[in-house]
Amino acid sequence: MKRVLVTGGAGFIGSNFVHYLLGHTDGVECLVNLDALTYAGNLENLTAVESDTRYHFVKGDIRDQKLVDNLFCEHNFDTVVHFAAESHVDRSIEEPELFLTTNIVGTQTLLDAAKRHWKIDPEDKYSREYCEGVKYLQVSTDEVYGALGATGMFTEKTPLQPNSPYSSSKAGADLIVRAYHETYGMPVNITRCSNNYGPYQFPEKLIPLMIHNACNDKSLPVYGDGMQIRDWLHVSDHCAAIATVLEKGKVGEVYNIGGNNEKANIEIVRLILQELGKPESLITHVKDRPGHDRRYAIDNTKITTELGWAPAYTFEQGIHETIQWYLNHMEWVERITSGDYQKYYRDMYQKAQQP
Ligand code: NAD
Ligand code: TYD
Repeated sequence: MKRVLVTGGAGFIGSNFVHYLLGHTDGVECLVNLDALTYAGNLENLTAVESDTRYHFVKGDIRDQKLVDNLFCEHNFDTVVHFAAESHVDRSIEEPELFLTTNIVGTQTLLDAAKRHWKIDPEDKYSREYCEGVKYLQVSTDEVYGALGATGMFTEKTPLQPNSPYSSSKAGADLIVRAYHETYGMPVNITRCSNNYGPYQFPEKLIPLMIHNACNDKSLPVYGDGMQIRDWLHVSDHCAAIATVLEKGKVGEVYNIGGNNEKANIEIVRLILQELGKPESLITHVKDRPGHDRRYAIDNTKITTELGWAPAYTFEQGIHETIQWYLNHMEWVERITSGDYQKYYRDMYQKAQQP
């Protein structure tokens, strides 16, 4: 029976993963969700699991060494799944420092606590022996590989070449995780997934933002020519992949996770408008994002052939269900887009109005 620390479990992917793990496995004895509840964290995402006696929520910062240490003492975790991060590229362009401290220092704080609690002899710097069955899983992104041209795909061997403050902070975190494995023998895995979509995604990201704007007859801000390509992965396929890596992933290995769904942004925007019965005249081409990566595509051969995971969703089914989910959860969307979101939206998009 696993004793799991999930960080960032009130965010988009983290909350889906909490639901997934408590719903799909009876091998979990205790799951602690450590989340600072930034603008992106929302406990409403988790009301369905609140009464589960295995589930505990702790409001706190992953950079708080004392708190993280106390949690390890109290709950005796054997598994860490680290989602907590500043995750939005556009915000990272405005505020890089926050991304570096949260994403890099936060990761190192967690690794350090795990090492102290899991190493058989923490005082012996030459020892590489850890308690049986422990694992630290770093949730990373394909953005650490940089941008692709018209052809090719990212494999686990592709050199890291991040272009935004966000992706470089994630790459920095990955390198720290790697270093803890190489130097201290920490049992780790790193997963690098493509763009996720599905329920509970904050409407600053492409798909929920476009659904929200279209529903409100607001213009749909497409960066540049809209021909940038992302490889879309349904969040529940991502959660299943993480559970697979936790169970079967070879210690020290990186696994790419992708949905084999390459789409240009403009294609997705048109699809959303079509499904909602809204006119294409809502599309507004705005100034491109600085340093905008042109194309991402994941080669998922390693995880599919070595661990037996495969995405279950087709994009057509996934996007249809996702649009319906947002239509059925308009109150959730309205609550998180009131207040601070309005200011964020004005600041972010006013500057970009002219292509
Ligand atoms: P999100 O922004 O929706 O959620 C992040 C969560 O982390 C929030 O609940 C927030 O409150 C919490 N958090 C932020 N700073 C914290 C801190 N200092 N201490 C504790 N909690 C903190 O992000 P997401 O989209 O769910 O992404 C989760 C992870 O997956 C991130 O590491 C991200 O880099 C990675 N990822 C996301 C995508 C995607 O498409 N969303 C793709 C690839 C990788
Ligand atoms: P996003 O959801 O921010 O994810 P990422 O930048 O991590 O890939 O953006 C997905 C794509 O959509 C990306 O190419 C930027 C583009 N985009 C827009 O064209 N307009 C928008 O308002 C947003 C938020 C994104």
